Amino acid sequence: MVFPLFCVVGLLVLLMNEVGLCNGGTTSGFVRPLEKTVDMPLHSDVFLAPPGYNAPQQVHITQGDHVGKGVIVSWVTMDEPGSSTVLYWSENSSYKNKAKGNFVTYKFYNYTSGYIHHCTIKKLKFNTKYYYEVGIEHTTRTFWFTTPPEVGPDVPYTFGLIGDLGQTYDSNKTLTHYELNPATGKTVLFVGDLSYADNYPNHDNVRWDTWGRFVERSVAYQPWIWTAGNHEIDFAPEIGETKPFKPYTHRYRVPYKASDSTAPFWYSIKRASAYIIVLSSYSAYGKYTPQNQWFEAELPKVNRSETPWLIVLMHSPWYNSYDYHYMEGETMRVMYEPWFVQYKVDVVFAGHVHAYERSERVSNVAYNIVNGICIPVRNQSAPVYITIGDGGNIEGLATSMTEPQPNYSAFREASFGHAIFDIKNRTHAYYGWHRNHDGYAVEADSLWFFNRYWHPVDDSTTTQG
Ligand SMILES: *[C@@H]1O[C@H](CO)[C@@H](O)[C@H](O)[C@H]1NC(C)=O
Ligand SMILES: *[C@@H]1O[C@H](CO)[C@@H](O)[C@H](O)[C@H]1NC(C)=O
Ligand SMILES: *[C@@H]1O[C@H](CO)[C@@H](O)[C@H](O)[C@H]1NC(C)=O
Ligand SMILES: *[C@@H]1O[C@H](CO)[C@@H](O)[C@H](O)[C@H]1NC(C)=O
Ligand SMILES: *[C@@H]1O[C@H](CO)[C@@H](O)[C@H](O)[C@H]1NC(C)=O
Ligand SMILES: *[C@@H]1O[C@H](CO)[C@@H](O)[C@H](O)[C@H]1NC(C)=O
Ligand SMILES: *[C@@H]1O[C@H](CO)[C@@H](O)[C@H](O)[C@H]1NC(C)=O
Ligand SMILES: [Fe+2]
Repeated sequence: MVFPLFCVVGLLVLLMNEVGLCNGGTTSGFVRPLEKTVDMPLHSDVFLAPPGYNAPQQVHITQGDHVGKGVIVSWVTMDEPGSSTVLYWSENSSYKNKAKGNFVTYKFYNYTSGYIHHCTIKKLKFNTKYYYEVGIEHTTRTFWFTTPPEVGPDVPYTFGLIGDLGQTYDSNKTLTHYELNPATGKTVLFVGDLSYADNYPNHDNVRWDTWGRFVERSVAYQPWIWTAGNHEIDFAPEIGETKPFKPYTHRYRVPYKASDSTAPFWYSIKRASAYIIVLSSYSAYGKYTPQNQWFEAELPKVNRSETPWLIVLMHSPWYNSYDYHYMEGETMRVMYEPWFVQYKVDVVFAGHVHAYERSERVSNVAYNIVNGICIPVRNQSAPVYITIGDGGNIEGLATSMTEPQPNYSAFREASFGHAIFDIKNRTHAYYGWHRNHDGYAVEADSLWFFNRYWHPVDDSTTTQG
């Protein structure tokens, strides 16, 4: 009895393969114990405010111009405004330069923010370590950063990828793994969903402050490049908060004007050998909208002889085979995917889905309403799509996947972690995904990227799942 049944199943599998239903990539066999993700309590060590009267807290930096010679320094003071001045000096120099910034405050329902300072330092030297000091006149604190090398095609550079971080014990593990990863990321490309303060009653903005203190240990020393996620919207008409992105835009600044953008939600930067375009899944992107106009003009500006690596960040993924947020990225994909393929974007990083997934190089651009051609096909001009929304936030892991694994999906696993995109030169970059359950150096998924412009050949054969 058992034998014929086995044959029937075997035949079915064969048939399914025949029609292409189950020739997808790898669904990792690693099963994570599903303990609940909980936010670290308010008294946790990572949330401690620095001691001293009016001491600057939540210190964070991001790139402050288009090429990497500028840095935006931000911090919060709680007792009184204090000074918005930053003192900075290069390593071995005794002369302290001075840059003047300003501060903002905002209210959210019955929460009133501290004094949020932003100061842009410009005209720094490339590839140089700088110290900077904030809190002048009260309690001062000193940090440091290293500017990137001058923009150029063969400049090696290492980016970290983190998404949907939040402030749970798992978030803390993700950040620790990123910090202790021997691949040492120099800049974080953050794909959106920062604090998850909006999970609290009235979006308790105290949780924006705790998040700022939690991540300071990394973002005060290296820039994080910000992308807006849905948890940045903070739209709460029931408590009178109807202006989207209020806490996010007051706290996190980006150099959008340097790339001729008209809003902080979409912009671009160059950094070393990479050209990074940040898009907003939560701002209008249809034809004639500001984002669409900007993006259409932006792609032809990318000079791959200068910045061979073209990277796009967005929050909501286009190629996602989890049940969560399935097809949420579809309308933007329909609008923008032909451009991604035409301009040979190397890789697209997204978050939103709290798990990990890497696609094959696929495109799905042939459909025209009547021809029925709407299946993703392999296309070596297309980017690799990576979902890295696995930072460890309070909403927990996305574990349920569409079955069978679609063939556009090369590798997927429901575990928390981060990734590293390590550019070697104009033709090669090494990518690795690190899950929190492994040792710091272990890669659970990796791929050699061959640059789409300078080395446009199949890189999928080198996958090590
Ligand atoms: C997936 O399978 C379909 C049907 O067999 C095929 O048309 C398509 O090209 C495949 N896509 C990829 C990415 O391999
Ligand atoms: C600063 O001094 C250190 C130690 O003397 C040296 O290694 C480094 O190259 C110097 N940096 C610059 C920018 O001169
Ligand atoms: C804000 O209001 C909530 C409930 O309406 C209350 O629990 C909380 O203590 C208030 N917070 C402040 C800062 O007044
Ligand atoms: C967070 O991680 C850091 C570094 O591993 C550790 O020192 C700290 O105790 C952790 N805090 C919590 C609340 O888990
Ligand atoms: C593109 O960049 C290369 C290398 O920096 C430069 O020589 C060339 O002039 C640039 N092309 C344009 C159109 O700006
Ligand atoms: C890949 O995409 C490009 C741009 O849309 C298109 O011209 C080309 O025909 C596609 N290749 C395949 C194999 O579909
Ligand atoms: C680029 O980097 C790869 C990987 O490290 C190396 O194999 C290749 O030789 C390098 N190419 C050049 C031109 O240096
Ligand atoms: Fe999200």
